[in-house]
Amino acid sequence: MYRVLRFFLFLLDPESVHNSLRIVKLVFPILRFMRPSFPKSLARVVDGVVFPSPIGVAAGFDKNGELLPIFPWLGFGFVEIGTVTLFPQRGKPRPRILRYPRYRSLQNWMGFPSAGANKVVENLKSYSSPIPIGVNIGTNWDRPKKELFLEHRILVNKFKGIADFFVINFSSPNTRGLRDLLEDLNFLVELFKVVKDSTYKPVYLKISPDMKDDALREVVEVVLSSSCNGIVATNTTSKTWLIPEAPARGGLSGRVLRSMSLRSLELVNRYIHNRKTVVSVGGIEDAEDVKSRLEKGAQLCELFTSIVYEGPSVGRKIIRGLL
Ligand SMILES: Cc1cc2nc3c(=O)[nH]c(=O)nc-3n(C[C@H](O)[C@H](O)[C@H](O)COP(=O)(O)O)c2cc1C
Repeated sequence: MYRVLRFFLFLLDPESVHNSLRIVKLVFPILRFMRPSFPKSLARVVDGVVFPSPIGVAAGFDKNGELLPIFPWLGFGFVEIGTVTLFPQRGKPRPRILRYPRYRSLQNWMGFPSAGANKVVENLKSYSSPIPIGVNIGTNWDRPKKELFLEHRILVNKFKGIADFFVINFSSPNTRGLRDLLEDLNFLVELFKVVKDSTYKPVYLKISPDMKDDALREVVEVVLSSSCNGIVATNTTSKTWLIPEAPARGGLSGRVLRSMSLRSLELVNRYIHNRKTVVSVGGIEDAEDVKSRLEKGAQLCELFTSIVYEGPSVGRKIIRGLL
């Protein structure tokens, strides 16, 4: 059924299709009063937060927290909203998402379009979620590095009564200079301190699949020696040549990212050794993959691109496969 619908949807611009999802808001009044149930065997507690299932929606799918009531219904045990920036911004000019159906992959250079923290807080406050909500926080364009401590502190304070966990995102390839921060270890140490002094909720760092092994090991060491609760691995890859027809910009997600994401998971876990949380994301399409990532040391898994290719039933299919 979704295959037929997908044929028509893929004739349209990806972002327009995505934005048309807002039509589901029409059924929110009904969904708000119904509590979806999850098989009890899938529930787990991670850093003090109860997750009804270990498979959630990755950042970028619901940037402004506008679609929250649908995720539990689609079988997702949590959602990471954002990236949310402190001030509203439009991101890069459209079109800024491309599909590659043959590779089951997407390419995006969105550049953090965000309604801004105040608006997103308003969206979140209007809904009491039956699943945990993580807020992925990021920086506006061209912010001087020294301002980022204060901005992250303000962001966390705005969401601290509402978010179940936070993800700090310095791994997007679409904001100039952002990924350099991942390799500035003194900056990370100071930032974790500022953020964790502002909240007792779990805080994770999202990393890039393009990091060299040594840089990745150093980041893990900083996480281990700080109060940061763990790592989300990974964001999209800038190795756009993995798809010969792709322009050299932005980042690739989906099937072409899978092996890089798996390698990051293995490396991160080799250094972390279950001492902190690892969330695995990148190219997940089915329950077998989720199972193997949980076995390889991930506590939680997330996906985005396979919702586009497999359809909205992918969350429920994975749940069935995990039982
Ligand atoms: C269109 C699009 C927008 C994204 N926006 C964000 C974002 O705002 N913040 C972020 O941390 N990751 C963002 N991501 C990356 C995803 O969260 C995820 O890390 C990546 O897509 C790999 O997972 P997947 O292969 O299941 O899609 C985005 C991905 C896509 C495809």
